[in-house]
Amino acid sequence: MPQEVRGVIAPGKNEPVRVETIVIPDPGPGEAVVKIQACGVCHTDLHYKQGGINDDFPFLLGHEAAGVVESVGEGVTDVAPGDFVILNWRAVCGQCRACLRGRPWYCFDTHNATQRMTLTDGTELSPALGIGAFAEKTLVAAGQCTKVDPSVSAAVAGLLGCGVMAGIGAALNTGNVGRGDTVAVIGCGGVGDAAIAGSNLAGAAKIIAVDIDDRKLATARTMGATHTVNSKDTDPVEAIRELTGGFGADVVIEAVGRPETYQQAFYARDLAGTVVLVGVPTPEMKLELPLLDVFGRGGALKSSWYGDCLPSRDFPMLIDLHLQGRLDLAAFVTETIGLDEVEKAFERMHHGDVLRSVVVL
Ligand code: APR
Ligand code: ZN
Ligand code: ZN
Repeated sequence: MPQEVRGVIAPGKNEPVRVETIVIPDPGPGEAVVKIQACGVCHTDLHYKQGGINDDFPFLLGHEAAGVVESVGEGVTDVAPGDFVILNWRAVCGQCRACLRGRPWYCFDTHNATQRMTLTDGTELSPALGIGAFAEKTLVAAGQCTKVDPSVSAAVAGLLGCGVMAGIGAALNTGNVGRGDTVAVIGCGGVGDAAIAGSNLAGAAKIIAVDIDDRKLATARTMGATHTVNSKDTDPVEAIRELTGGFGADVVIEAVGRPETYQQAFYARDLAGTVVLVGVPTPEMKLELPLLDVFGRGGALKSSWYGDCLPSRDFPMLIDLHLQGRLDLAAFVTETIGLDEVEKAFERMHHGDVLRSVVVL
């Protein structure tokens, strides 16, 4: 029987979001209905609302979510009703070249749930990132669900579904930060702070946080930054070199997504060091670098896609580390809010007042 629940809709380009009644069908083959317990507010939700991703309005927003599986469709064996799960963007196929080479975040043939959630008048909804979790329940592919230890709070667990995983993974998976490394992180929002926490976890010797906002630098220290640089008044490349004995950092993680900060990241790393781009640029942005510098400085220029994570490997591991007190994921939850407060949360995010606002149901 289809069910009616409340969900947060972006009705049209730049229109305020609102809570509406939505209809969730029974799960079909390979699908699951998940009772959402928490869902973080992310920049990508705002981009959907602004029409910056595509024009498939109305959107059912929300994608950094955790909850409990309520029912599953035919053929689902990996998860069962009652399982506590974190949702991820894509149900990967497991068989394409990217999957077989252990890089499922580039899967060519994802199997997300078909878009069958609607408004009560039958209007089809487009779920954000194939999830749509600012809602009491949502329909996803079972492959988008990863079981984790249910003793963790849902508000914390949901964060691994996107931004926090992106940052931790940029350090651990893409940057391969190791014990004794020097690391610089440019941009200390939720993603950059997660990269700092990840570098700390990996045993980095120095973690230099760079931002233009002193409030962000203060938070970065609580996440594990050992040094901070306000790049509004100081040249960050110079400052990072000075703090690393004149060499530059072994790994520099860019978590802003702008050409000038990427350029800083490029020159702030040591010879043969690694730059990781995790901030998402816009289609118009271009990077100009002297080819001789690219050649002469060696090392690696990498981008990190969803923290290059394997959800079934990384989500349970990071939740375990959190439960053991070795990774403070709760520090990323600035506030918990209700479904009807998402519009206000966008405002606060825009002003840089929060790391994450999390809708709790
Ligand atoms: N130099 C240094 N820091 C900057 C600069 C700059 N020129 N411009 C902005 N910042 C800082 C902001 O002050 C803020 O602390 O970058 C941080 C960005 O953080 P958020 O806006 O909270 O964004 P976040 O969620 O961390 O995501 C960062 O990663 O996944 C992508 O789409 C996401 O591109 C975005 C980036
Ligand atoms: Zn695949
Ligand atoms: Zn997100």
